[in-house]
Amino acid sequence: MRVLSGIQPSGKLHLGNYFGAIAQMLRLQEEHELFAFIANYHALSGGADLAELKRNTFEVAVDFLALGIDPEKTVFWVQSHAKEVLELYWILSRYTPVGLLERAHSYKDKVAKGIAPSHALFSYPVLMAADILLYDAEKVPVGKDQIQHLEMTRDIAIKFNNEHGAVFTIPEAMVEESVATVPGLDGAKMSKSYKNTVEIFMEEKALQKRCNKIVTDSTPLGEPLDPETCNVYALCSLFLDEEGRQELAERYRSGAEGYGAFKKFLKELIWEHFAEARERRAYYLSRPDEVTDILEAGAARARAIAEPKMALVRDAVGIL
Ligand code: ADP
Ligand code: TRP
Repeated sequence: MRVLSGIQPSGKLHLGNYFGAIAQMLRLQEEHELFAFIANYHALSGGADLAELKRNTFEVAVDFLALGIDPEKTVFWVQSHAKEVLELYWILSRYTPVGLLERAHSYKDKVAKGIAPSHALFSYPVLMAADILLYDAEKVPVGKDQIQHLEMTRDIAIKFNNEHGAVFTIPEAMVEESVATVPGLDGAKMSKSYKNTVEIFMEEKALQKRCNKIVTDSTPLGEPLDPETCNVYALCSLFLDEEGRQELAERYRSGAEGYGAFKKFLKELIWEHFAEARERRAYYLSRPDEVTDILEAGAARARAIAEPKMALVRDAVGIL
């Protein structure tokens, strides 16, 4: 089965990204044919800092390789290295009613948040449809906020196929109910936009400082603590199996330790969990040419699919 996923290069990766998206991709690459790309064209649709875009694109590539995306198994590339997607985006626009785009929640939400209502922001779902249809993806792992974009992709593909025959595979969203929403420092959803993140790759001291900022209640030292309502516990749980969770819950309830101890414990869990990834990251950061080669090889594999597909599409719609 072919599974495709796009990641926006919008800054430093955090634990929410890891447990909400990346861990799932690492599982998928073992079981399926995974296509994963860095959606740098999407970054032009608003909100991203363009002065940082080149660097962020490179760093996200490094981070994904460090975290275990295996370019032998997975087709891993930068979106702009297979430019066919932009041609398809235009052709698909012909099959996209404006009303469909006007109903997009994500567009309305972003405009409400103050992002300029540009044409790029408005037509973003058509580019996403092109990403998916160009590579004949069967399944697309997405968070709940992206389900509507998948519906739009299907609508566009069905409309095209009705006119021209079965050119596109009709994709399906893959929503993992078990993927928890990772809480941030303040207990709200961890997100760059809320500035409440714990980044995956921080210096050790900075990481401890960040963990220390997690909001906890004011139970005095020496009294039992409630793991169920504690953000530190929730974050620790992500790294522990059932037995580990129970042991930690016991420590909470015994009252022998305070929040400070558990924040140290959390930092240790994070530091340990990403130890290998940190080493691989240092390796790739010091060898940018190797990263470029990996991305170029990935792009060549992507283009080997995109080029013949576009030939079919052009032929279907009568583009010389
Ligand atoms: P941010 O909210 O920090 O801007 P993105 O929207 O770029 O993060 O998210 C990229 C991916 O990470 C998406 O697939 C999203 O579902 C996942 N993700 C982000 N934050 C969380 C979170 N707190 N819990 C679970 N998944 C998350
Ligand atoms: N829109 C997705 C996001 O904001 C990123 C993305 C772009 C994507 N193209 C895609 C995801 C294609 C899946 C498939 O997170």
